[in-house]
Order: sequence, then structure tokens, then C-alpha cells
Amino acid sequence: MTIEFECDGTQVVVPDQGHTLLEVLRDELGVRSVKDGCSPQGQCGCCTVLVDGQARVACVTPVRRVRGRSVTTLAGLDADERNKWAEAFTACGASQCGFCTPGIIMRFAGLRAKEPDADTERVERALAAHLCRCTGWQTIVEAWDAFGAAPADRDLEAAARRAEIEGGVAQQVGPEATLGEGGFADDGSPLDAKVAVRAGDDWVVGDSLAAAREAAGKVQGRRTTAELNHPIGLPDGDWDLTLQTTWVEPGYLETDASWAAPEQPAASSLGNGGAFGAKLDSPVGEVAVQLATQHAQPVRVLMSREDTVRLGPKRPPVAGGVNADGTGTIRVAATPGVVEAIGSVAPNLTVEEVAIPGPNTSVDIRGAGWVEAAVLLAVARAKAEGSGTISISAPSGGTATAAFDGDSIRVTVDAGDPIDPIILRSYCIGAAHMGYSWVTSEGLVVDDEGHIHDLTVRSFGIVRASDMPPVTVEIAESSEPSVNGSDAVFAAVAAVTWLRADCLPTWPVAQ
Ligand code: FES
Ligand code: FES
Repeated sequence: MTIEFECDGTQVVVPDQGHTLLEVLRDELGVRSVKDGCSPQGQCGCCTVLVDGQARVACVTPVRRVRGRSVTTLAGLDADERNKWAEAFTACGASQCGFCTPGIIMRFAGLRAKEPDADTERVERALAAHLCRCTGWQTIVEAWDAFGAAPADRDLEAAARRAEIEGGVAQQVGPEATLGEGGFADDGSPLDAKVAVRAGDDWVVGDSLAAAREAAGKVQGRRTTAELNHPIGLPDGDWDLTLQTTWVEPGYLETDASWAAPEQPAASSLGNGGAFGAKLDSPVGEVAVQLATQHAQPVRVLMSREDTVRLGPKRPPVAGGVNADGTGTIRVAATPGVVEAIGSVAPNLTVEEVAIPGPNTSVDIRGAGWVEAAVLLAVARAKAEGSGTISISAPSGGTATAAFDGDSIRVTVDAGDPIDPIILRSYCIGAAHMGYSWVTSEGLVVDDEGHIHDLTVRSFGIVRASDMPPVTVEIAESSEPSVNGSDAVFAAVAAVTWLRADCLPTWPVAQ
């Protein structure tokens, strides 16, 4: 039995094996612009394609359902249109790692064909089917409006230098990265490679992703309805201000992936960005090398979304109490390096590490530990002074000031020589979204034994485009050496978001 359909203008025939359209596109036809950020959860939008002109998520579309129909991926989009989207996203800084971008471009292409004059509200509604962890949405909406505008002259190598300073690992910037060609590990894997997936504490190898998942007996985890808990008790004392946080998922869109051929190094799992520090210790490259040697052929190693949630590092929970004079105590989940991280911005705070059952935590995750300490101290000071504006300097040397201006967030950033203001602004808006989203709605439910119960990409609490306040960014002129500015923005926006929420003592404030 076979299934015939049109893919990007070509008739294709594939075996009828009960696979999804995503499995067929990526793993049988080699269409790697279609990304897998959560399959088979159907919740991130990275695998969006057009089926007879309608946007569909391919990971929950059985390929049988497209029999006799026409499927369009980014590769099959009219070249002029594809180019205009790539230019628009590049010009606005609307793509950072680029993993979510092909799916969003396909959503936009489908929308534009029907509603070329769609307004911001309509565009944000269309984005509700997608997740972007990097950009904070605003620049993506701007890219919708910039479609077809003539590209300005720009030094994209300089832009990539600024992106690397903000992201912490090498980044590509430009139309190719926007089209999903940012060098993601699995995209370069050979079609005939074996595939390894996680099964309990081990890896199961199959001839295809579908076969490996079946052999692993994967049962999808869900989102829980249980309440978030705050696992660390407050330090004893009489404090002007207290805060308790919980585990937070970094929520990067490209789940951990690598592949290797025998006797060859593994493809880097850092992708186009490094996932806010969360992938620096990913085991997948080492596993790929071991399995390629063992099987004497190329092996892809792929974590599902659920694997990434279970195994990837989280932001460590804290519980702290401070006074307006800058003294206080912060208790934090035991994490190598976190005491030093907190001490770097808050030398007068006492830091206690606490051993608690729970997922792996890492100080590599953006601002882990020091941001919580800096926010506590800055907000205690602002409350004492009756100020609604907060300035925070990051250990990197970057400084950001944030305040609410009505319902929008106003940010000023000094990050040395901006090098490329479009990229710096994009990272600052993304960091503002991450700070706002963290304080208002992010957290993972972890039970008393330390097991995570929120296992879907939608259960992390990432704020949607339509719920994100507008952000304005002013970049300080400077010819000083360039330093990371977005981490300071992340901290300053978290602080003003908390201040605006009347400093409710547990995050997220809107549970
Ligand atoms: S991979 Fe299909 S929606 Fe996430
Ligand atoms: S650019 Fe959207 S997830 Fe990275």
C-alpha cells in the first residue's frame, strides 16, 4: 500500500506505514526546513506546512490524510515570496535561533494569501498556534508588516557578532538562518542513519524515528492540573521583601539532537544559539559517537520534547528575604556555581544551598541565581524609595533600566558599542518577554519525589503574543567594548513586572 500526494510541486509516493506527515517529510523525503519542536504534541507550530493552502501542523497530521492533496513547505513556497519573508524577518530581527521561523513563515504565507491586510490583532491570533522562545513576538509581528519592503544595507557579520554576545555561542544572522538553515544538528543527518531515542534510562535504536519510538514504547506525558509548589522554605527573619520561586523550564524550541558517523565527531547540539545556556552539557553528542561506533553506521540521537523536559537543566528554585538596606538571606537549590553567581551581584546577602529532590538545575541557564538576588535587592530599594523604575547591572557589564509606561514596558540598555542595533533590540525584546513571562506565568509542577508532571511544551507557561505588553527599547550610544545587554534587560523587566504585581511573594504571580 502506498500514498501519493504532491509535495512542493512534485508528485511523491510513500509507503503507507501509519506515519505522520512530519515523519514522512523530514525522515523519508528529507525536507529539513520543517522542524520538530514537540512531536507528537502538536503544540509548538515548528512543523507547520500548507495543505491545500491551509496551515497545518504536520506532526499530528497522518500522512494518509494528505493522500491526493497538495503539501507546501517553505522549500516549495514561491521563491519571490520566500525571499521577501526571509528579508522581512532579517530586517526586523524577527528570527534569532530560527528554529520556529519556517513554521511561522508558512503560517504567515497562508494568512497572507487570504487576508493580506490582516491587522496586528489578527496576526497575533495566528501566532497563537506557535511558540517562539527567543524573540518575544513583537519583531515577528513587525516582520508581517515589513513583507515586501526593500532590504536596507547591513553588515550581517557584525549582526552575528552581536548575536553571539547576546546568545553566548556562535550565531548565524541573515536570510538563511531565517529560512531554518541555521545549522541544526539533525538537519544534516543522512536519511539512512539509524535513530536513537530515550527509553527510561537507556537509548533504543531503530531504523527510523517512528520505529525507534515504537520500540521504546513511548507514551506521551501530559500537562498536569496539580498546583505549582515552591520547594524551598523562606529563611527565618523579619524581612522587608520575600520571594519564593519554583523550577522553570528554559523552553528552547529545538530539542536536544545530534548525530555522528563512525570515527567522526558528533554534530554540535548547540544549534543556532545554545538555548540560553541550557544545552552546554547536553549528552546527545557523546551518545551519538558511542552508538555510531557500536552500530558501525551513522546514528541520529533525538530527544523528544518530553525527554528534554525530564532530563534538561532547569532554573534552580530560590527562597529569599531581604531588607531595603541590602542585607538578607537567599536559599537556593544546590547547584554548582550558584553561590558564586549570587555573590557576584549581592556580596552582602547570605547564601544557603538547599538539597531538594527535583530535576537537574544549572547555573549556565540565563542569569540563574544572580538575577533573583538582583531583583530582590533592586525591588526592595525601589519600594523604599517609591520608585517604579529599576536599573540592574549584569555581571557581564551590561546595564538595563526598565519601567512600565501605561501598559507598555520601556527599556533602556547600555551594552557598549551596539554593533548592530537591530539584533541588540531583538535580543532585548526577547529578554523582556522572558522576564515578564517568568514572573507572571512560568513554572513546572514537580512532586515531592522530584518528578516533573508538566511534560508538554504548552505547560511551561510561556506568554503568548497577544498577552505580551509592547516593549520599547532605547539603546545607549557607546564606543566602549560590546558586552551582553539582554541579561540585564531580563533582570530589570522581571523586577518591574514583579513591582507592578505588588510584589506577590511567590512566582509566577498569576497562578
Ligand atoms: S513539532 Fe509539530 S507542533 Fe511542535
Ligand atoms: S527564534 Fe523563535 S524559538 Fe528561536
